[in-house]
Formats: sequence, C-alpha cells, structure tokens
Amino acid sequence: MTLEDAPRVRFAHLPTPLEPMPRLRAALGAAPRLFVKRDDCTGLAFGGNKTRKLEFTLGLALAQGCDVLITTGGTQSNHVRQTVAAAARCGLACHAVIANPLASPPGGYLTSGNLLLDQVMGAVIHEVIDDDALVQAKVRELEAGLRAEGRKPFIVPLGASDEVGSQGYVLCARELLQQCEDAAIDLSHVVLSTGSSGTHAGLLTGLRLAGSTVEVVGISSSEPALVKIDKVKGIARRLLVKLGEPEWDGFEDDVEVHDDYVGVGYGAETAAANAAIRLVARTEGLLLDPVYTGKVMAGLIDQLARGRFDGARDVVFLHTGGAPALFAYGEGVFG
Ligand SMILES: Cc1ncc(COP(=O)(O)O)c(C=O)c1O
Repeated sequence: MTLEDAPRVRFAHLPTPLEPMPRLRAALGAAPRLFVKRDDCTGLAFGGNKTRKLEFTLGLALAQGCDVLITTGGTQSNHVRQTVAAAARCGLACHAVIANPLASPPGGYLTSGNLLLDQVMGAVIHEVIDDDALVQAKVRELEAGLRAEGRKPFIVPLGASDEVGSQGYVLCARELLQQCEDAAIDLSHVVLSTGSSGTHAGLLTGLRLAGSTVEVVGISSSEPALVKIDKVKGIARRLLVKLGEPEWDGFEDDVEVHDDYVGVGYGAETAAANAAIRLVARTEGLLLDPVYTGKVMAGLIDQLARGRFDGARDVVFLHTGGAPALFAYGEGVFG
C-alpha cells in the first residue's frame, strides 16, 4: 500500500513552519545557519510530533471500527496527551496506562503539565508501577475488559512508533525538503530526539526515499545509543515493507544516535538541558522541554563545540514539542 492510500485522519496543522534561529546562532558563534522545524506547532492540544503519527494510527483504528483507544506512557507523556486529544477529535474514548519513571519527581510532576491536560480531555487514567511487564499486563486486562463489554479497543503503541505512525514522518521529510528548496536552505543535517524512535525512523526513511543524503543526528532521551539504533532500524525496515520498498536497504549505516545527553535517565533533568532551554527561550522566544528537546539542544550545542557541524551547510533542529512538561518541572528549568 502506498502512503497516499493509507488510512489517515487529518487533524495536524501542516506544513509546520521552518524558521531561522539567528540570535541563537550568534550566541553560539555557530558557523552553519540554524533553523527550527516547528513540529511543536502541529496544532493538536499544544502540538508535538505525535500528531503527525496519530493521523495514520487513528486512520487505521477508525478503519477497523474501533471505538476506544488504549495507550501507555510516563506520567508526563506528550504522546499520551496527544493520543487523548486525537481520541476526542475522533469521538473515541481513551484509556491511558501511565507510570511515574522518577524516584523523586519535581513539584508539579504528579499533578500538572501533561497529566492535567489528559484529565481535562477526559482520559481514563490507570496508574501503575514503572515496570514494562506490569504496564503490558494492565493493557491486556483493560483490553479484555473492554471487549467483554462489547467495545472495540485499539492499542496505540508507545509513542505511536511503529510502521503505521512513522508514515507521518515520511511525509514530514517531503515537507521539509520542499520548504528548504522554496527558501534556498542548503540543508545538510537534521538534529532530533530519538525516543520510541518512530520519528527518527520515519524521517530518515522519508529523506532517503526522496533521494536526499541529509544526515539525521539522533539524541537519545533514555536508552544507550545501540538500543536506539536497533529500534530505528527495526521500525524503518517494517516501514519500508509497508511502503512497498522491501528491497531498499541503503539507510542502515546512516542511523546515528548519541546517548551522552540523557543524564541519569529518562525524564531526569540535566544542567545542560536546562541551560539550553533557557538559552533558546531567551534568544528565540522558543520553548523546549526537559525530557526530549532540551536534551537535543544540549546535544546540538555540544556537538557544535566539538566540530560535528564543521563544514555543515544549514542545520535544522526538529522541535518535536513537549513544552507542557515545563509546568511539571518548574524551578530547575527557570533557575
Ligand atoms: C516532545 C517529544 N519529542 C521527541 C519525542 C521522541 O519521539 P519518538 O518517540 O518518535 O522517538 C517524544 C516522544 O515521546 C516527545 O514527546
């Protein structure tokens, strides 16, 4: 099935803007021009990268006649927030199995930010201990219970990161290349967050299928680089099969992920990410988050200082959203 034939519900505000960051560039003394692709502006309940993926995920769920979604994520999951919003937009109920990943969560972590928004949008929240087996057991229990009631549940995978959702980032790659052409931007690198990895897999696949050699630099939000690289490759392989390009394998060696900016773990603040959040906010009026995009920007700044972008032409930072979590983190970020 081609991308054009895949079931899709349209709710993203597209194309998202591609904007220069001249004051950040000057503050960093960066040689390449820096741009931001504003996927924080995809428009669904404060936006973010999941909106593009969920257009395809919800398309499939509706095509299968489902009437309720079940998904999973951390307490401050942006994915859960956008899934709850997408469910509301499509007239579906949404159950969210959430787990707190932090031993000492900051002030608003357990009440504010994304969790508060999930509740405003009517999600049924099920809190479990942060253990993958327990999360999956709860999902299976909910699914069985809903089926017993005659409902038709659809399980949205973590981060909507499978071959269905990542189709949204194949389209993003096309959109980005077109914008660069229109604005005479000589793109050489895209820097992004690699979490559940569907964004990275979809974007890289989309670029290569479009014949682009642009380098995609992934910054891990959690696991070691090798784990992320495997995830990206696995999703990309399944995506290529879905798109009818199973023979195509030219991207394998191009999957680049750095794990030096995670700090002690997923969701834990780092001084470098908090400093990057403040710098970008104060130079460009742009809000990043402590879990994903702040760490990406810390990585971009450090890689720049190490010469990673020497000789680079124009560099795009993919802003994947996440700023609602700022309300959950508070003082560390503002300090
Ligand atoms: C704000 C934000 N940026 C980046 C990511 C990572 O994207 P992916 O899970 O597709 O790797 C996430 C995932 O939850 C996110 O919420």
